[in-house]
Amino acid sequence: MTVEKHIFGKPFYIDSVINFPPYGKTFTDEPKNFPVGKIDIQDDFKFTCKMNEDDMIFGLGEAMGGINKRGRIYKSWCNDDPHHTEEKESLYGAHNFLVVYSPSIQKAFGLYFDYPGMLEIDAGFTKIDELVVHSEKTDIAVYFIADDSASPDSVVKSIVSEFRKMIGQSYIAPFWAMGFMQSRWGYGSEQDLVRVYENHKKHNLPLDAIFLDIDYMDEFKDFTVNKENLPNFAAAVKKMNDKNIHVVPIIDAGIKADDTFDVDVEGVKNDFYCKKADGSLLAAAVWPNLSHFPDFLNSDARRWFGEKYKILLDAGVDGFWNDMNEPALFYSEDGIKEAANKLIELSNKVLSDDNTQDKISWQMSDTIWNVKNAMKDYASFYHTVDEKEAGNFAVSVKNGKATVCHKDVHNLYGFNMTKAASEYFDSIGKKSDILLFSRASFIGAHRYGGVWTGDNNSWWSHILLCLKMLPSLNMCGFLYTGCDLGGFGCNTNRELLLRFLALGVFTPLMRNHSALGTREQECYNFENTEDFAGILNLRYRLIPYLYDQYKKASENNTMYFRPLAFDYPTDKIALRIEDQLMLGEDLMIAPIYEANAKGRFVYLPEEMYCLRSSHNHGSEEGIIPQELLKAGTHFVECAPNEVVFFVKKTSRIPLVDAAENTKSLDLNKVTFVGAV
Ligand code: GLC
Repeated sequence: MTVEKHIFGKPFYIDSVINFPPYGKTFTDEPKNFPVGKIDIQDDFKFTCKMNEDDMIFGLGEAMGGINKRGRIYKSWCNDDPHHTEEKESLYGAHNFLVVYSPSIQKAFGLYFDYPGMLEIDAGFTKIDELVVHSEKTDIAVYFIADDSASPDSVVKSIVSEFRKMIGQSYIAPFWAMGFMQSRWGYGSEQDLVRVYENHKKHNLPLDAIFLDIDYMDEFKDFTVNKENLPNFAAAVKKMNDKNIHVVPIIDAGIKADDTFDVDVEGVKNDFYCKKADGSLLAAAVWPNLSHFPDFLNSDARRWFGEKYKILLDAGVDGFWNDMNEPALFYSEDGIKEAANKLIELSNKVLSDDNTQDKISWQMSDTIWNVKNAMKDYASFYHTVDEKEAGNFAVSVKNGKATVCHKDVHNLYGFNMTKAASEYFDSIGKKSDILLFSRASFIGAHRYGGVWTGDNNSWWSHILLCLKMLPSLNMCGFLYTGCDLGGFGCNTNRELLLRFLALGVFTPLMRNHSALGTREQECYNFENTEDFAGILNLRYRLIPYLYDQYKKASENNTMYFRPLAFDYPTDKIALRIEDQLMLGEDLMIAPIYEANAKGRFVYLPEEMYCLRSSHNHGSEEGIIPQELLKAGTHFVECAPNEVVFFVKKTSRIPLVDAAENTKSLDLNKVTFVGAV
């Protein structure tokens, strides 16, 4: 195993790599020592590497594009963008790890760019045969990993495992968090909790958690509860807990700027917020309108924010989702004023000069559009960190503390919000009992919580997009992950929800979540709810097995989801499969992501059992029909109320009986499928 750390300049200290192996070598400031490609640190940082025609690139965590990332540009920048369309370059996470694999020579190497700001990865977009990685600053640490002793069949997996060891063990969610969870933007009252619970019960739909979105808060203020919606919050939570339902509230990054709000008053008094150059506090809008932003990079502010979760924990809550932590800025106080003035100026122009109308109306819409998540705003505020952490990122230093510009360390914000919560849970000995996941993330945050893939849409293509991101997220340590099943934005239909759920059966995070104003997409709102129950029952039957595989992946630094290419790199077809995944030690999944399909073509790299579960599988006999299929391509039928998955010929999978929640699963009554 070869592990090298190449340090250029004085990088910002990021605790993403926490275990540098004893056999690893460290180099400083010598671009020529880098083992592959060419590094240039003249004005900015640029790594360039030639690629062979058939070289493949894997990794980059949460990103658009394929499982093979080649052919696109990616901007590593935590971005609050709810439109996950083809051309997008950034999503909510920033995960700078990739593996280049050359199938012709069966060699691979991994690269990790430890850099907290924007990193551009041109994976053969500008020039088809070049991988170019660029950052503005030349203060960066780059890790190189190769394993020349690994067999061709395991070379990529071995590099990924080495990286995963270096970044530390992935977060393990509590067992109940493998259960099905129901969420919707709009849930915020006791009535919502009761309605969702009762409908699930009535329709025999298993359930383990109900989420509360921003409406449970009083005026969207973190760590408060709306007294009208939830007059006795603890009692409402207890009522759910008594039925084995967990209540999972949202926590947003921004805190309402309000001098009558005790949390905000404390934040101001203790100097825990991000500040602008003139020392005034950044005030930017999120849901509560103008908000202050905790300086999560400052350990004192982190501790303070983390301790606030106690307010909700004391009420019986044992799960949280951290949101808007890229951070999302709808507009800043300065930005909106500037835009308003510009609009007045432009409208005066339109009224006085006919010829320019067209372009001016474009300029007007751009002016409005550009106030959101503006780079200018990200460049306008600062964090306070220990001087020794800042490297060359410090803009000023005083009494052992350095000030750094947010734009330069942007990608660490959500990471440190997750860390704030997790460190508190750890300090009270409850980390492993509490569910925690986040929208924004950076490598390192995988030790503290999971991630969901943000605001997708009720689009068929977003089933596939999720599938493609799963293994890349796993490469970067994020194992507890999944997408908004059914799709967050737009209106879903019955078939689309069923197919989304059929993928969700296998993702550790299995949550139906949708946006305010969209069609209500709880399973019980559609016809023939027994079809939904059938899919959820399959999940519950598999939970002990899936949880075991998930825990093993965390403990052994392996991937829960893998591209077929990682397991069968010498199989030319498997190598390029973009719509199937290997799961754990024994399974392969091939979800359907097209409307009106009766089934799909599935490629089997080896002989496997094809298991089929339809809605009656959980009934009396509890048998899942299986058929041994030869290696090769098959058209496999699969109705919308069925889930088909594949088990290796030599493997057997334990199943328990379905139950209404994870607490009621009988773990002693096990049957087996596969090679029994
Ligand atoms: C963001 C989140 C979404 C949530 C909404 C309201 O868009 O990504 O999941 O429902 O905010 O809180």
